[in-house]
Order: sequence, then C-alpha cells, then structure tokens
Amino acid sequence: MKNIAVFASGNGTNLQAILDNIAKGSLKVRLALVVSDKQNAFALKRAKKAGIKTFYLDPKKFVSKEAYEREIAAQLKKEKVDLVVLAGFMRILSPFFVRAYRNRILNIHPALLPAFKGGRAIKDAYNYGAKATGVTVHFVDEHVDHGPIIAQEPVKVSDAESVVQLEARIHKVEHKVYSEVIGRVASGRFTVKGRRVIFTP
Ligand code: GRF
Repeated sequence: MKNIAVFASGNGTNLQAILDNIAKGSLKVRLALVVSDKQNAFALKRAKKAGIKTFYLDPKKFVSKEAYEREIAAQLKKEKVDLVVLAGFMRILSPFFVRAYRNRILNIHPALLPAFKGGRAIKDAYNYGAKATGVTVHFVDEHVDHGPIIAQEPVKVSDAESVVQLEARIHKVEHKVYSEVIGRVASGRFTVKGRRVIFTP
C-alpha cells in the first residue's frame, strides 16, 4: 500500500474526507503524515483525533523556502512517503521540492483549470457569471495551478444560487473526487506524456 502525506494550512475538510474514506476502506492508501505550516490549523486537530502523525513546521524559522522544504522532505523520507497530497496548503512549493517529487504531488483546485486560477477561484467564477465551473485535480509543477491535469469534474452554476451555496456544492464534489483520484494515482497505472495524464486499465 502506498504511503501518502497530506499538506494542509486550514480547515481540512478535504483531509477529513480522505480520513473518512481510508477508515471506510474505499481509499486504499496509508496516511503516514499530515504536514502544516500553521500551528493552529484545524486540519492538525482532525489528524490528531484520527491518530495520524502530524508535523508542524514554522516557515518563519527558516532562512529560505528551500531550507524549509528540505526539512519537510527529510521528514517525508523518514516516513517513506510516496505521494504528497496538497489540501488547502497555502504555500507555493519551490522548484527544489517539485523536482524531488515530480508527478508525485497532487493538488485540488476549486475551478476548471486553466480558468480561475488563484485563491479565490469559486468567487471569481461566480462573479464572472460562469454558467459552469468545477473541480480540478492536477500534478504540481513549477507554476501555480498549472501542472498536468489528472481529473476534472464540472459543476453547473444555477442562476438562483448564492456564492455560498455554490461553494458548498463545489466542496462536496471535491470531497468525493479527491479520494477517487488519489486512489487511482496510488495504483500507479498511469503515464504522464507532456501535459497529458494517461490512465491504463
Ligand atoms: C479547497 O477548496 C481546495 O480546493 C483549495 O483549498 C480548499 C481547502 O479546503 N485548494 P479545506 O481546508 O480542505 O476545507
């Protein structure tokens, strides 16, 4: 079974869905570690409650981004982590880290990339008047919200709903899709050709 680490800075609802799916047996990976850059992240509380090892590291204590990430990478090595799963991790990873875990870092983004990149994707899509948006899971490369796309799930925007309602629906889709995709990637039955992620049966 593959070992994964989840990186989270905030609430951790995606982490919770992963924890629940592992507990149910529908996601067959071992969650070896939850990493956070925020001491008070609720995600850390969720991990501890589930008996998962946590690793909080304060970026301000390091001279550079790379020094910070080297420390995290050492911890991942110690825990024999195969896959890194970003779930609301609010830091951009440096080329050092991306290279060390090429095509082994997943991110979830609450829009259909390349539309609505950035930290306000749901609001941006809503305010833009998009009739459809959705969820993207992609590998992380050296650019923000950019790496090869692993999966996308569209979500229609209803004319009647508020941004809060849309947000809730998108998060629900995220919670389902992320575990499915993590499971597929953990199976290792795929190749990456340029930007294309091709799954084999
Ligand atoms: C999610 O919407 C995810 O798409 C984005 O950050 C949010 C994290 O939410 N990258 P949570 O901490 O998992 O609740």
